[in-house]
Amino acid sequence: MVAPVRPAAAVRARSVADVQATLRWATAHGVPITPRGGGTGKAGGCVPCEGGVVLSLAGLDRLRSIRPEHGFAEVDAGLITGTFRDAADEARLYYPPDPGALDACTLGGNVATNAGGPAALKYGVTRDQVLGVEAVLADGTRIDLGRRQPKGVAGYDLARLLVGSEGTLAVVTGIRLALRARPASIVAALMPFATVQDAAQAVTLGRRSGLEPRALEFFDATALRRAAREPGFPFDPSWGALLLVEFDGEPGVPEASLARFAEGLGDRGPLEVRVAGDEARRRGLWQLRRRTSHLVKVGAVGWITEDVAVPLGSVPDLVERLPGIGEQHGVIALAYGHAGDGNLHVNLLWEDPSGAQFAERAADAVIAAALDLGGTISAEHGIGLAKRRFLPQEVGDRAIGLMRGIKQAFDPLGILNPQKVFRLQEPPC
Ligand code: MLT
Ligand code: ZN
Repeated sequence: MVAPVRPAAAVRARSVADVQATLRWATAHGVPITPRGGGTGKAGGCVPCEGGVVLSLAGLDRLRSIRPEHGFAEVDAGLITGTFRDAADEARLYYPPDPGALDACTLGGNVATNAGGPAALKYGVTRDQVLGVEAVLADGTRIDLGRRQPKGVAGYDLARLLVGSEGTLAVVTGIRLALRARPASIVAALMPFATVQDAAQAVTLGRRSGLEPRALEFFDATALRRAAREPGFPFDPSWGALLLVEFDGEPGVPEASLARFAEGLGDRGPLEVRVAGDEARRRGLWQLRRRTSHLVKVGAVGWITEDVAVPLGSVPDLVERLPGIGEQHGVIALAYGHAGDGNLHVNLLWEDPSGAQFAERAADAVIAAALDLGGTISAEHGIGLAKRRFLPQEVGDRAIGLMRGIKQAFDPLGILNPQKVFRLQEPPC
């Protein structure tokens, strides 16, 4: 877990000019700046670990324009993601990324971590929607990067380089986001399976069938049992695991796709298919899914949440290794998440304070398993501070050297969110 840190000061920017003035001053005085959106990140990316100034973008929250004729919108970085999705919906358009903290996270924060969510399965993560960004460099210069149409290869793609850079290269103040046509119809269904392996196999087989679910969410039995202490959370003790499967398309298509998905699994198919009969029920299911991260932790005194992803065909292998990791290290290991993307939120919990001493080793084992299977240490939460010690294992020293070079080119004084993603120098945090 990342410990809280108090900065020397906080700036609440209300305009791009405020951001520019803050960065000009910080460069002149060599003061570290930690940009902050909604503060909902999972990896400690907005923790001001070197003190200095926290620069909040939350007050920069205008929807600048929606341009249906161009297929994009221009937004301030501090606009709440859920608010933006609702505005797009009113314009009969669709913005797919739907991270867990939808109603509290900001689009700028989503850009910082390249956030995903369930619908990333069909429509891609934040980076796939970003056409361009407006950003302020460490010396206070405002730049506009990227494009206004789907195509463009004018030099290096600096706009998308900023996506996922966690505020270490520049402070993003505005974003140009592609919008799509709103799906005509969406249908969700719960599919419980007798065993966790059947559910994990269904994820890989279901994708291979040529069908394109918009969401394929997985819950193992431990996650279900813990979350089901919340009234209304779907659970039956006979379930080994649960999938929440969703399709969209022209009316009638999602229902047919759900049926084909389940039938294609043959003998190892779901115990039943519980279709959410109307929009209110569908939304209810997603509310419970969004609360899973919180619900599974109730009763635990501490936890580490991992955000690994593996190639799709290795999801069953990863799922099979988790109980052993939990047992070996004396922690509760559970998983839920965006299995259709190979992405599982593995939670390591302890209900007795003594569990803390073993948890780091359990986390090491989860990371080792993901990398052994050819996966990644973070699919959508970012590296921040929490995953930094694992980064060299995934990308290697040569790649970290290249990243340091890019950091140096953007931020020669090293004042922008220092020590995040990789250490600038040893130590201090
Ligand atoms: C989610 O999918 O619920 C979010 O990424 C948060 C999490 O589970 O840790
Ligand atoms: Zn997630």
